Amino acid sequence: MKIEIITLFPGMVAAPLAESIVGRARARGIVDIAVRDLRAFAPGRHQVTDEPPFGGGGGMVLKPEPLALAIDAVRGPGSRVVLLDPAGRRFTQDVAREMARVPHLVLVCGRYEGVDGRVGEHLVDEELSIGDYVLSGGELAALVVTEAARPARASPVHPARDVPGLAGAGGPDLGRPRADRPLAPRDVGVAHLAAAAGSAGDGGPLPGRTEMARRVPSGPNTGRSPGVGTR
Ligand SMILES: C[S@@+](CC[C@H](N)C(=O)[O-])C[C@H]1O[C@@H](n2cnc3c(N)ncnc32)[C@H](O)[C@@H]1O
Repeated sequence: MKIEIITLFPGMVAAPLAESIVGRARARGIVDIAVRDLRAFAPGRHQVTDEPPFGGGGGMVLKPEPLALAIDAVRGPGSRVVLLDPAGRRFTQDVAREMARVPHLVLVCGRYEGVDGRVGEHLVDEELSIGDYVLSGGELAALVVTEAARPARASPVHPARDVPGLAGAGGPDLGRPRADRPLAPRDVGVAHLAAAAGSAGDGGPLPGRTEMARRVPSGPNTGRSPGVGTR
């Protein structure tokens, strides 16, 4: 799978994409991610990428010409070009799974007051929103889509099988209960007692851990500390 991100601020996405699972998957050649600097596609000495909206209104929008050149430069037969847009189709785990099957995903990041409307109408295949809030640019949205849509085999932790929760895996899995070793019952009591002492508001210093442990009464430990509300 190849993902290309077209942005006016390549530095905003470059560092996160070099880290952790996505970074390792890239290093192993499991997913190929390229970041394209939109300004490089803006002609002229000043390489202007924004202008006032064609139909009027305040602020600036991204001009369609540099976006058209950038999209033309990367689009190929297996490409799906997606504009990140707060008014687009909602990005969900199902959509992530759908995107993971696309051989070449192109993510276009808007900025300022958005993107010239002709880009959404004529240059991209669809618009995606990562939620009902407005970010100042599409870069974080592109990272969300990239992280969620990477193929299941892009997990270097379990490279040989589908991993639940990743886009290519079978059923929906938005989160499973996770458990490490249980806390020792005594520790639970101490933690509750410490929390109660911290919220007592007596102004005194919190007792140290050893002293707290001494104050925990002996006998069966219910996991509930003395003096902490029993309902
Ligand atoms: C300030 S926003 C533009 C808001 C503008 N009123 C609009 O509706 O497009 C600038 C850019 O951030 C990105 N963006 C903001 N919120 C987003 C969201 N919830 N999902 C996806 N992209 C978003 C889009 O690329 C957008 O063009």
